[in-house]
Amino acid sequence: MAKAKIALIGGGQIGGNLALLAAQKELGDIIIFDIPQSEGMVKGKALDILQLTPHDGYDVSISGTSNWEDLKNVDVFIITAGIPRKPGMNREDLLEINLGIMKEVASNIKKYAPNSFAIVISNPLDAMVYAFYKVSGFNKNKVVGMAGALDSGRFRAFLAEEIQCSVQDISCMVLGGHGDTMVPITRLATVGGVPIESLIEPSRLEEIVNRTRFAGGEIVKLFGNGSAFYAPAQSAIEMAESYIRDKKRVIPCASLCEGEFGVDGYFIGVPSVIGENGVERILEFELNNEEKSSLNNTLMAVKKTVKETKL
Ligand code: APR
Repeated sequence: MAKAKIALIGGGQIGGNLALLAAQKELGDIIIFDIPQSEGMVKGKALDILQLTPHDGYDVSISGTSNWEDLKNVDVFIITAGIPRKPGMNREDLLEINLGIMKEVASNIKKYAPNSFAIVISNPLDAMVYAFYKVSGFNKNKVVGMAGALDSGRFRAFLAEEIQCSVQDISCMVLGGHGDTMVPITRLATVGGVPIESLIEPSRLEEIVNRTRFAGGEIVKLFGNGSAFYAPAQSAIEMAESYIRDKKRVIPCASLCEGEFGVDGYFIGVPSVIGENGVERILEFELNNEEKSSLNNTLMAVKKTVKETKL
């Protein structure tokens, strides 16, 4: 079977880690793409990773480029292209700049690899994944945003630390938008099948939920400059692997809802089955009233940012 071709659009902090993880999992041949001013940087990262492959025996090729022609017939794109918020810049300024970048990326992907699967990471995520979908004209199953996988991973890590048990045995999901309004569904969180709510006091659980909500900001504050990159990269790789290997993992992702959970026409974090056809199915379930109202709250935030894209 032919090896998958994976392109990372944006070879910065997350892009570099995506390349490393994709190589270590031997997901396929890897191309790191960035703007011409950063071509040397991505070629350098590609060479550096190539030179670690013999140690553990990863049989993949890896290269760097700023030429879209090199991305013909790529199977999977993971997009982190964009700029981070700079001092003095407000959210709208950032949205405008990153929207311009996303439109350019989406048009090129439409031109060079129209049958690919695209995972969007760039922020503001809810608007960026929507913009990619609109500009590329891709079918809804071929576009997805990475948010819930990261937010759920953070929730799982904090819960495992609290209970002092393996992270592997924690199962939970965080739905909604990628921001402070995200909706961790604590009612359905379990450890080895045991409900979390029967193990952790409500007030303590609330603290953990709040830490999850602001986990990205906690890291930004510690770094002083830049945002999280290891966990975002790992989360997107989990999604790419499920697609490439047709694993049909159930992962909370920003998928286009058309009626599911009462959402119509927006990408929002929902449990999604990812397999060889992309987002193959959204697993819908009954929310309680409190969860419904939280999801509605997050939907309003998503609608506001999507409206700003004017798409
Ligand atoms: N085409 C390709 N790459 C681009 C373009 C473009 N038009 N414009 C910018 N880039 C590249 C930058 O040159 C940079 O190398 O995107 C890369 C972004 O990398 P970083 O600034 O290191 O950001 P990173 O930490 O990787 O985060 C990327 O993901 O989680 C989000 O908020 C985060 O939006 C940010 C994105």
